[in-house]
Amino acid sequence: MTTERTLSSKIVPVPEKGRVLVFDSGMGGLTVAREIMARAPSISVDYAADTGFFPYGDKSDAALRDRLPRIAAELVKQARPDVFVIACNTASTLALEEVRAALDIPVVGTVPAIKPAAEQSKSGVIGLLATPGTIRRAYTANLISEFASDVTVILHGSVELVRLAEAHAAGEPYDPAGFAAAQDPIFEVEQGGLVDTIVLACTHFPLVQAELAAAAPRPVTYIDSGGAIARQTLRVLARQSFSDDHAELPDHRLFVSSDPSDNARLVKVCARFGFETVVQVAV
Ligand code: DGL
Repeated sequence: MTTERTLSSKIVPVPEKGRVLVFDSGMGGLTVAREIMARAPSISVDYAADTGFFPYGDKSDAALRDRLPRIAAELVKQARPDVFVIACNTASTLALEEVRAALDIPVVGTVPAIKPAAEQSKSGVIGLLATPGTIRRAYTANLISEFASDVTVILHGSVELVRLAEAHAAGEPYDPAGFAAAQDPIFEVEQGGLVDTIVLACTHFPLVQAELAAAAPRPVTYIDSGGAIARQTLRVLARQSFSDDHAELPDHRLFVSSDPSDNARLVKVCARFGFETVVQVAV
């Protein structure tokens, strides 16, 4: 096994075998899957999108709490991964423990990158761009009080940006004004003029980071947690032991929870990221 040295000088193992399932509501988790695949090209990575319940950002907490452990268990039964990655802030900040309790393999969650953003902000004012679900979570409030109590955090939730990110990733025409509209509220409130760092606390948003940067009223640094989740996934995978029956499974499968023919756009984008064999799961 080789290792990767990160900027903070932490050594991260690079496993050569094992199977990871990366899960999100839609295409957002691809921004995490690509980080894992870039670091550990010889492991098996599958992708799952809960297309039947997309988007998560506007669903009630009760509905998501009911669905997440059920779909996670079904996916693990079918995909047989060694590690399950919830590449979704909206799901992780609500139901990480419920998903862990439903599975008998390790689960890696996604945490908004509030800590690194607070550490690197010079102005002491940061933005947090997420889904409305993530914005209202107690989990997010706790992260802010633990890691960002000495900075001002301006929170803004947008479901429109999730949809815009999917359309843009698929190469569909889009209105550039949508990117400004999705983040302008952060700059427009009191102290918004001082924001120098924005946390992309939805895994969909790194898909459109360049467009957000172009639409921002002035230069800001965008931070997401894709690299950190990938490193944590590889640490956890390196500690796992593997059964040989995984070896014969196909690689780079895409699991969806609704009819693939209703999801042509997602199927196309996932194929571009290397996930080509489409499997429908019933939840
Ligand atoms: N990609 C997801 C996240 O990180 C959720 C997007 C959605 O389904 O609303 O929060």
